[in-house]
Amino acid sequence: MSGQEVDEVPGDRHDHDGPIVIAGAGGMGREAHAWLGDLGLASHVVGFAAGPDTPPGTTQLDLPVYRGLAAPHARFGPLHIVLGIGLPAVRRRVAEEAEALGCRLLSIVHPRAHVGPGVTLGEGVVVGPDAIMPRDNRIGTGVIVNYHATVSHDAEIGDFAFIGPSAVLGGHATVAEDAYVGMNASVLPMVAIGRGVTVGAGAVVTRDLDDGLTVAGVPARELHTPPQ
Ligand SMILES: CC(C)(COP(=O)(O)OP(=O)(O)OC[C@H]1O[C@@H](n2cnc3c(N)ncnc32)[C@H](O)[C@@H]1OP(=O)(O)O)[C@@H](O)C(=O)NCCC(=O)NCCS
Repeated sequence: MSGQEVDEVPGDRHDHDGPIVIAGAGGMGREAHAWLGDLGLASHVVGFAAGPDTPPGTTQLDLPVYRGLAAPHARFGPLHIVLGIGLPAVRRRVAEEAEALGCRLLSIVHPRAHVGPGVTLGEGVVVGPDAIMPRDNRIGTGVIVNYHATVSHDAEIGDFAFIGPSAVLGGHATVAEDAYVGMNASVLPMVAIGRGVTVGAGAVVTRDLDDGLTVAGVPARELHTPPQ
């Protein structure tokens, strides 16, 4: 997992320059737009990017919604992409498209988030208001740590994983890549969540989870339904 110390995150220094496109024109994308505004970066946003079915002329927040990244890339030159999409698989796909075009993933850390010493962030991370990462956390590429989430000391989050609003990871917990931790869920200290696992809203995960499971409840148990 590649990472950078948090004081190297462009959004955190408020000194970003160049056009920004928010990938995702839904609720998460609009939230990312608000958080860029809180960082003083809203004027850099030239539009949103969404899927191939986006009708021509679509707008969001009075900005154009492009089909994919190629069109804004052709128009504005090298872009910075903020990943405003909830689902890990879609975020990963967009990040690959961005890389193929030579666009850079921009990490944004809301000014009201607390990011302590020894925290490393991959590229394209989005950290929402009041999220807490007290110290020595490794956060992979394309991760979302949503508002009010807490990632306790030494916890690690793999690439493109999603940590929902008010979710709590205990100390030394690990969340593997592409996992989705629903809002208000808790993962006990030292527990390891496998790749692509979905943890339901409000669940309390007390044991390690194998790759690909969907769990819910207190304590969390496997649901006999396909993952979302
Ligand atoms: C766990 C989850 C992924 C399951 O989704 P699903 O596979 O579509 O499951 P369904 O909605 O069909 O529900 C299946 C069963 O699980 C139950 N269930 C669903 N979510 C549950 C949850 N979070 N906790 C407890 N039970 C839950 C349902 O009541 C249903 O029970 P039933 O069969 O007795 O009626 C989803 O409900 C969830 O919690 N997603 C997280 C959403 C979230 O936090 N998003 C963040 C937005 S910012």
